[in-house]
Amino acid sequence: MNTAIEIKKGIYWLGMNDRRTHIFENYWPLPKGVAYNSYLIVDEKVAIVDTVERSHMDNYLENLEAVLQGRKVDYLIVNHMEPDHSGAIKTLLCHYPEMTVVGNAKTFPMLANYYGVTRNLHEVKEGDTLSLGTHTLAFYMVPMLHWPETMVTYIPEEQLLFSGDAFGAFGTLDGGIFDDQVDLDYLEEEISRYYSNIVGKYGMPAQAALKKLGGLPLSMICATHGPIWRTHIADIIARYDKWSKYETDEGVVIAFSSMYGHTEQMAEVIGRYLGEMGIKKIRIHDTSKTHPSYIINDIFRYKGVILGSCAYNGGIFPTMETLLCELENMGVKNHCLAYFGNKTWGGGAIPRFKAFAEKIKWEVVAEPAEACGAMKTTDAEQCKAIAEAMVAKLKA
Ligand code: FEO
Repeated sequence: MNTAIEIKKGIYWLGMNDRRTHIFENYWPLPKGVAYNSYLIVDEKVAIVDTVERSHMDNYLENLEAVLQGRKVDYLIVNHMEPDHSGAIKTLLCHYPEMTVVGNAKTFPMLANYYGVTRNLHEVKEGDTLSLGTHTLAFYMVPMLHWPETMVTYIPEEQLLFSGDAFGAFGTLDGGIFDDQVDLDYLEEEISRYYSNIVGKYGMPAQAALKKLGGLPLSMICATHGPIWRTHIADIIARYDKWSKYETDEGVVIAFSSMYGHTEQMAEVIGRYLGEMGIKKIRIHDTSKTHPSYIINDIFRYKGVILGSCAYNGGIFPTMETLLCELENMGVKNHCLAYFGNKTWGGGAIPRFKAFAEKIKWEVVAEPAEACGAMKTTDAEQCKAIAEAMVAKLKA
């Protein structure tokens, strides 16, 4: 059955829902699946904007052919080369061998390396346009949002922006495809998790893109994942602006790693003190249970971060090491940090936390606490001091 949807006259959504893949980029959990949005413009010329992940090829081609009714595809616009959007390129070229692939100078080496495609290429630069007849495509470069070749495509006649991954979301499109047709409350975490997990490292490029595109009138934002924005455009732009400036709310994320419960006990005590001191947004995560995806998402939300780990073979616990490496890699900015550890003999967590603090350059608000096994009165006092210092900083 043809599931393509006309979103404006002559412009179609050709997206595919993926409810089978468990992890995105072979790393980030997909509890609510993900949609790969491809778009088709049928005018005097026919153009596709981005494709889908290759495992959805059969249904994708079926929808495409159902809309085109024997017409050929003239252009494929490649806003982004990551394979969840470029996966259909080779097959499309088999079906439409005369199709011209439109990209920029950074697109084509990737196209050659990934798919061996080196012919029928049309290179565009910032501000270039391509007429399809009644629709004009205008191209804007948004490098490192979140790959170097990334660009967006704008149709001025419709005030419509094909934004690539920007303004995207995890989660399948269950029924509706527009932001006013889907349950945005249900997708809330998937929208912010998509930003923090996938785009979050690139706050400055995101800011540059927002400034560059800020002058364009917009009636519709068509991202490559998640709902099409037409009613809540100002809201999603405002959220991207806030996230990419690393602006946070008052709250504290406590992430701990604990083998036998002693480090968890310290986390509980710190959380309790924070609660008594008036902090309501407290999120306590066990790194052995909760994927970094969710912890990082909460860290993007809240200013305070308190990390605790037991020692493990003279170092830090492996799941905490994973979280620290991820945060260091992302270069998340603008947080207040405190940390604590627990040891049975020589320790190992505290030196790693210290190195992390120096690398990520968050403001350390308190001396670290380090207990030996079960908490003693003096350990509880150290935990209280951490909570007090964090609250003082957040309320300042
Ligand atoms: Fe959805 Fe960067 O690929």
